[in-house]
Amino acid sequence: MKAKKDKQNKLPNAVNPGKSGASGVRAPGRLPADSSVDIGRLLDLVASFPQQTICVVGDFVLDEFVSGEISRISREAPVLILRHRKAEAYPGGAANAVNNLVDLGARVLPVGVVGSDEGGSKLLGYFRAKGVNVSRILQSSHWTTTTKTRYLAGWTHTTEQQVLRVDREPQTEVPANLQARIADNAHKSSRGSDAVLISDYGLGAASPSLARGLHAKRVMLDSRYRLLEYRHVGVTAATPNEPEIEAAYHAQVGNDVGRLDDLGHRARRDLSLEALLVTRGKDGMALFEPNHPTRHIAIHGSDAPVDVTGAGDTVIAVFTLAVAAGATYLEAAQLANYAGGIVVMKRRTATVTRAEIESALRHDATIDR
Ligand SMILES: Nc1ncnc2c1ncn2[C@@H]1O[C@H](COP(=O)(O)OP(=O)(O)OP(=O)(O)O)[C@@H](O)[C@H]1O
Ligand SMILES: [Mg+2]
Repeated sequence: MKAKKDKQNKLPNAVNPGKSGASGVRAPGRLPADSSVDIGRLLDLVASFPQQTICVVGDFVLDEFVSGEISRISREAPVLILRHRKAEAYPGGAANAVNNLVDLGARVLPVGVVGSDEGGSKLLGYFRAKGVNVSRILQSSHWTTTTKTRYLAGWTHTTEQQVLRVDREPQTEVPANLQARIADNAHKSSRGSDAVLISDYGLGAASPSLARGLHAKRVMLDSRYRLLEYRHVGVTAATPNEPEIEAAYHAQVGNDVGRLDDLGHRARRDLSLEALLVTRGKDGMALFEPNHPTRHIAIHGSDAPVDVTGAGDTVIAVFTLAVAAGATYLEAAQLANYAGGIVVMKRRTATVTRAEIESALRHDATIDR
């Protein structure tokens, strides 16, 4: 959902679950002993996903894709005419995290707000059809559902190309009375959950003050613009991408892994987190925990993705669910890494299922025998 970095840096000690065996890691280089991938253990964790209840609080977005063929140039103006073929809509932002959790078999308690508009009704209808309890997603005429519409042009046998994106967004802050009701709903839903996932895309449904009021076993955070404002509010772990952590500290990582190390450990300390997982696009992930060296995890599968839209939402969904199921942060990161590698091979804003993660794990277990 944002511009991706395209870096070429290679990391030392990369752990690649895609190349690991059932009994542990078989990656090259000097691997720390605690970086092993135990596929049997990961399979057990995935099997227990349906026993977990996750509350998701955040900014619900609708991702729309309108596709068609370019038929001709208009005579009204020098513009291309796209002949409409189809329109599809998928949950985006916090709603994408919810959708991923649902497809992973978890019980999900979504909390947020949508507008009394077409986008809001589509999102609620989508989740109702999947059997999700939407009673704590408010629908208000004082709010606009953020809707990102991509226009995609292509011919039958060509790859489609995005030619335009039109965003509908709220023009104001979330009204105070709605903010109070969201906080109240989050408070109620968090109490019965194994973990709370905060997906703050900067639209105002989730905030540091809301996080402070939660009564949750663990709070996992994805914040696009204000990671550091979540200091001292009881967040357990966070999954920023590399550009977000660079922006937070006005620093550049570039090809310097040492700088990533410094920033990661600094952010983990500043936010008093148990773990910080930095996602790095095609460069994989880096996990920071107290008293551990940085663990670098190379991507699972191909580095030629089909569509990276929403990959970060899939990552935090799996990371949260795995930790709720009793995973160590390293195990949770490894599972999230499998999921990230799978989801970027799917078109549009997509989800990953339990069966897909299990199949990737079993595949890796067999190829190493
Ligand atoms: N180019 C790529 N090749 C392979 N895997 C990728 C690529 N881009 C992303 N991924 C996978 O998806 C994960 C999350 O991607 P990324 O770091 O881009 O998150 P993000 O920027 O937060 O995503 P979002 O746009 O959803 O906010 C990566 O850690 C990796 O597993
Ligand atoms: Mg992200």
